[in-house]
Amino acid sequence: MELILPVPETASGELDDATLIEHYAPPPEATRWLRVNFVSSADGAVEVDGNSHALSSEDDMRAFRFIRMRCDVLITGAGTVRTDGYQALRMSPERVEWRRAHGLPDHPVMAVVTRSADLDLSMPLFTQAPQRPIVITCERAPVERRLAAEEVADVLVAGDDGVDFATALDLLEERGLRQQLCEGGPHILGELTAADLVDELCLTLSPVLAGAGSGRITDGPSSPLRRMRLAQALHANGNLLLRYIRLR
Ligand SMILES: NC(=O)c1ccc[n+]([C@@H]2O[C@H](COP(=O)([O-])OP(=O)(O)OC[C@H]3O[C@@H](n4cnc5c(N)ncnc54)[C@H](OP(=O)(O)O)[C@@H]3O)[C@@H](O)[C@H]2O)c1
Repeated sequence: MELILPVPETASGELDDATLIEHYAPPPEATRWLRVNFVSSADGAVEVDGNSHALSSEDDMRAFRFIRMRCDVLITGAGTVRTDGYQALRMSPERVEWRRAHGLPDHPVMAVVTRSADLDLSMPLFTQAPQRPIVITCERAPVERRLAAEEVADVLVAGDDGVDFATALDLLEERGLRQQLCEGGPHILGELTAADLVDELCLTLSPVLAGAGSGRITDGPSSPLRRMRLAQALHANGNLLLRYIRLR
């Protein structure tokens, strides 16, 4: 056991942006990488009043933006898109500059996972996206909804009764989208864990107790334990920003 606390009263080494960005570099040997990013209360709640905003903080958002900046594709479940008010995925000028310097397109692609394909296609996420979004769905989704989605997005069908996530990630990789970031929600994380596809979990533990009533960061049918190693722990104003990487 190793002592990493107490947390210093005053910051002993505030990380500048460039250093913080480096702390979120994926392993250099990884040709494809699925990172999942969540924030939770200290007592494990995934939402307060229906969304995750109250759990987040400036420090969490700082890391959140840099994590997004690194990805080729941002994958989100339709449930989270509905509750958390997703906007078009657009990088700030500074982040566009960083991406260009690293050989990346200006903006990542947004991919929404849905079984029903019952999406509000008038959302800015679709209508104002700088990169044509992707809808990942399955054969069960009504054809007329899939056709409607094709007006504003590329539609990938990956599975019959539900999306098969291994197939979906392969299809994204075939499009050159190798740095894959998933921001949930819980049902998507449950599926990814069940399929043993999570390479990394970034988890911010927020210094609040949310009390009873909320679910965890994962939901759905149970799955076997997936062993992870703690690769990084950052502290910022009581928030713990943890990075777990899958043990292979
Ligand atoms: N704290 C955090 O970091 C964080 C992050 C994300 C979300 N959240 C919270 O989590 C809550 C939403 O949770 P959620 O679990 O409902 O959201 P979710 O996992 O984002 O979305 C669930 C939806 O994803 C689609 N889906 C799931 N599995 C599928 C499969 N195998 N095939 C095809 N589609 C599939 C379905 O969409 P259709 O209904 O369209 O078929 C399903 O209703 C919100 O309160 C949100 O604020 C918190």
